[in-house]
Amino acid sequence: MAERPYIVGNWKMNGTRAMLSEARAIDRAAQRYMKVEVAVAPPYTLIHAVHKEAEQIGVGAQDCHPGVEGAHTGDINASMIADAGAKFVILGHSERRQGHGESNELINAKIESALEAGLRVILCCGETLETRDAGDAESFVLNQIKAALPLFGEPAERLTIAYEPIWAIGTGRTATSEDIEAMHRSIRELLNETYGEEASAAVRILYGGSVKPDNAPEILATPEVGGALVGGASLSAETFLGIVVGASESEEA
Ligand code: 13P
Repeated sequence: MAERPYIVGNWKMNGTRAMLSEARAIDRAAQRYMKVEVAVAPPYTLIHAVHKEAEQIGVGAQDCHPGVEGAHTGDINASMIADAGAKFVILGHSERRQGHGESNELINAKIESALEAGLRVILCCGETLETRDAGDAESFVLNQIKAALPLFGEPAERLTIAYEPIWAIGTGRTATSEDIEAMHRSIRELLNETYGEEASAAVRILYGGSVKPDNAPEILATPEVGGALVGGASLSAETFLGIVVGASESEEA
């Protein structure tokens, strides 16, 4: 792995201020695992509070609106989350694509607005079980990425990709190491073609979907896996840190 493994907790629509103690515990423990880059993406309402607690971990958001300020009731844009203390934003998560009808074009616009606001971006991609069973997973995922990738500036430096097969999210099922490796290698080839090998090497490709402390070591040891995007298991410091420990050990192996 070229870079430190990156372990990111996506809290989704979970967490009130009572969760700040978990964030604090994650942050304090992360200081013992400096070989791993640790971050959490709490809901908007907690970004500033988690940012104030965090000495070691990165803090990010789970979405942003692509526009500048204006008449968009209920929306929050990239410069607002940056102002609240976010350093990155997760974009294109399947729960946004499916639950909010987000298209690749919209996700591309969000990515460009986030980069413009100085944020790093985690671009999510992943196929349904139907698509996988039809043998179309690779072309589907590569198309998602191609359509959303930013092309201006030096985007590769601030980009992370998260491959999250939809059928593995919150289901307790994970893809096999072989399937993960094959998909990550295809994504790497696409990044090499888009940005050139040198710039592409800076882009970590995370795996997401039912990552837990017990399966993390095998997943993180898979070639081309640069870390994990963790949902359910990131809601408790104990389980999330179990994954961070697995990442730290995979670095030492
Ligand atoms: P789970 O870890 O709960 O399967 O969620 C994965 C995910 O969607 C992270 O973004």
